[in-house]
Amino acid sequence: MILMENYTVMLNYENLDLIKISPNILDLDLNVALETLETQYRELLKELPLFNVIVTKNWTFEQKRMFTKVFYHLRGHFYRFLWIIGSYAPGTTEKKIILKNIFEEFGETRRSHELLYFDFARALQVDIEQEIITEENYVDFARKFNKEHIDWLVEHNWNEKLAAFSAYEHLDNVDYNFLLALTKSFGLEEESLLFFKVHTKVEHYQATEVFIHDIWGEDPRSIINGFHFIYNHQINMWKNLSKLISIFSKNEVKVAKEPM
Ligand SMILES: [Fe+2]
Repeated sequence: MILMENYTVMLNYENLDLIKISPNILDLDLNVALETLETQYRELLKELPLFNVIVTKNWTFEQKRMFTKVFYHLRGHFYRFLWIIGSYAPGTTEKKIILKNIFEEFGETRRSHELLYFDFARALQVDIEQEIITEENYVDFARKFNKEHIDWLVEHNWNEKLAAFSAYEHLDNVDYNFLLALTKSFGLEEESLLFFKVHTKVEHYQATEVFIHDIWGEDPRSIINGFHFIYNHQINMWKNLSKLISIFSKNEVKVAKEPM
């Protein structure tokens, strides 16, 4: 068995351009254009061992725990993304969308999404509060994934920022259906999966939809830039996570956190 404190990540962070943009995409109806991207995205996800329940139900207990710790860092730092979007937001309506999003993250009248994730982790004997303190499993590709979000947002115009935010929220509904199937394959009690169930139903994307449609009429390129970046970036993250959990199953691989 690999001791958690000794592992390192011998993972070459891959960032390939996997989502293809057709030359006529800017001439299409927005919904049709986004559908072409989402179809490619779903097909790429289906190819990954990470989202093959026949593979994941045979993961070892340590692989399931590894997924839980690393995945925390792939979602748990999203607040910085929201902070950047909210900070650049030009109007009250856009700012209120971000605040509503944060309020939903806090669970409104119920428990926060963060605490629901703690419940899931606890079912696998993982202490996320300890993970927050030590960041022991905040692996190199996860750090880069989060950093690249922030860098991209800062470097692009408002329409592109909003498109990236909308794309990220749009993928929640897609990703969490895959993630719910994945975590169901772990054989845990149903109530420990509430974090994933809640996210299959969130409607954050709808709040941004009206803005995206308005921008599409005058600046479609920015919309495609934002969606292309997020879809591609997300696919690369899933590929790296899938690879990491596979590598982790092989005891001969010794892994160390790479310095940033
Ligand atoms: Fe959430």
